[in-house]
Order: sequence, then structure tokens, then C-alpha cells
Amino acid sequence: MVDKSNFLPEGTSIIVIGSNGGIGEAIYKTIESNYTFNNVIGLSRKSEIKINYYSEESIKKAADYFISKSLDIRMIINCAGFLYDKDFLPEKSIKDINIDHMQKSFYINSVGPALIMKYFFPIIPKEGKFIFANLSAKVGSISDNKLGGWFSYRSSKAALNQLVRCMSIELNRRNKDSICVAMHPGTVDTNLSKPFKKKGLNVRSPNIAASEILDVLSSLDESHNGKFLDYKFKEIAF
Ligand SMILES: NC(=O)c1ccc[n+]([C@@H]2O[C@H](COP(=O)([O-])OP(=O)(O)OC[C@H]3O[C@@H](n4cnc5c(N)ncnc54)[C@H](OP(=O)(O)O)[C@@H]3O)[C@@H](O)[C@H]2O)c1
Repeated sequence: MVDKSNFLPEGTSIIVIGSNGGIGEAIYKTIESNYTFNNVIGLSRKSEIKINYYSEESIKKAADYFISKSLDIRMIINCAGFLYDKDFLPEKSIKDINIDHMQKSFYINSVGPALIMKYFFPIIPKEGKFIFANLSAKVGSISDNKLGGWFSYRSSKAALNQLVRCMSIELNRRNKDSICVAMHPGTVDTNLSKPFKKKGLNVRSPNIAASEILDVLSSLDESHNGKFLDYKFKEIAF
């Protein structure tokens, strides 16, 4: 068991969104087995209470459910994300830009997390630690972009990073102890990264990545509000 007594108070609840994805499931299971002092709730398009980032209604319904339960929710980890599917591969050049691909990327990578904050805002405690962590990607860093390409993924993650910054400011007005971050999980062996694993990349298992991400989250304080961090706790420039 991990003693992270500084992490979150006993008896609080944590929500993991995208808890059926490669990293999300590993985070959910790691919290369940290693962090006994928390109640962890996994949400996805397939869970009992469903969250689909295409459906504002599903997000509102889920939030209303948790509001009605009066749970002390102290952390929401957003692990949902989209890079490619059978119809769309990351764009290699401008000529590959496609409206449906872009729309899908923005719905899942940026609009969904913004709506989560909109509807879950009323359950954010007015004092004491609260964390809203969003899995972003280093390729969403504008200053780090030296290669181009991957238009939809890069720009929708850059939008997510901007949303995190906006939300961190408003969250801080509600609760001075709240922390909203974007996190780069590194390259992790999941379905999302499968076609893009190159030699020389440090590809980690979902379980290792989950432990590293949770180590970072458990070490956060208010000074990290609005930051973009990687799994080694290093700040990434936006
Ligand atoms: N793996 C990596 O190397 C890597 C690197 C950098 C950043 N990331 C980021 O880390 C996060 C997790 O990635 P992963 O590797 O775990 O990917 P993954 O295994 O493909 O999981 C993606 C998750 O997103 C969910 N999702 C997809 N469409 C959704 C929708 N419309 N509404 C709600 N949820 C939806 C999926 O649920 P369904 O099963 O219902 O589709 C699944 O739970 C993503 O944001 C990704 O961009 C990953």
C-alpha cells in the first residue's frame, strides 16, 4: 500500500473518466489496489453511468447523479482521448486535413473535458484539496512543435491545454486549494500508441505509467495549478 497521507483526505472519492482505456484502466486499478483510503469510480461510454464526450446530455446526467449523491469528490482524472481510428490516421501534411477527423479530435480531446468542468463544477469543494487532471500530450505543446503534421491531435491537445489554463483560474476563484493540470503520460503501450511506437522511444507499460502519473498527482500543490507537467514531474512549456 502506498502511504500518501498528503494526497487526499480519507473517505474522499475519485472519478476516473475513460476508465476502460489503456492508461485509464491502469490508473483506476492502481488506485483501487494501492490507495485504499479513496473510493474510486470509473466512468466511460460503457460504464453503468455513461459518459460520452459527443453527448453533452450524458455529461450533464452523470454530473447530476454525483451531485444528488453528495459524495466528497476530491479528484477527477480525465483519461479519455483520441488519436486515430479506422477512418483517420494522424495527418502527414496539410492536404490530409479533414473536417470529420478534426471535429472528432476536438470533441474528444478538448470539448469533452470542458463540459466535464462545466457540469461537475457544483460538486467541487469550496475548500481543501481538489484536483482536475487531464491527460494531454507533449505534441500539444506549441513551443515544442518542430516537426509539424498531426494537425488534429496537436491542435486539439493544445486547445485542451488552454482550457486547463482557463479552468485553473476559475477553479482557483472557487477554491484556493484546487489544482487543474494537463499531464503528458509519456509513450505508453496502449492501443492509441500501437502504430507509432518507434525505436528509441521509452515505451512504458500502462501499469508503470499509472504509478508514475499517480506519483505526480499525489505530489501536487497549489503552485502547480494551471501547469502542463510530464510523468517525471517536469514542467512542459505550452
Ligand atoms: N498512449 C500513449 O502513448 C499516450 C501518449 C501521450 C498522450 N496520451 C493520452 O493519454 C490519454 C489516454 O490514452 P490511452 O493510451 O489510454 O488511449 P486508449 O487506450 O485509446 O483509451 C482512450 C480512452 O478514451 C475513451 N474515449 C474515446 N472516445 C470517447 C468518447 N467519445 N467519449 C468518452 N470517452 C471516449 C475510450 O473509451 P472507448 O473504449 O469507449 O472508446 C478510452 O477509454 C489520451 O488522452 C491520450 O491522448 C497517450
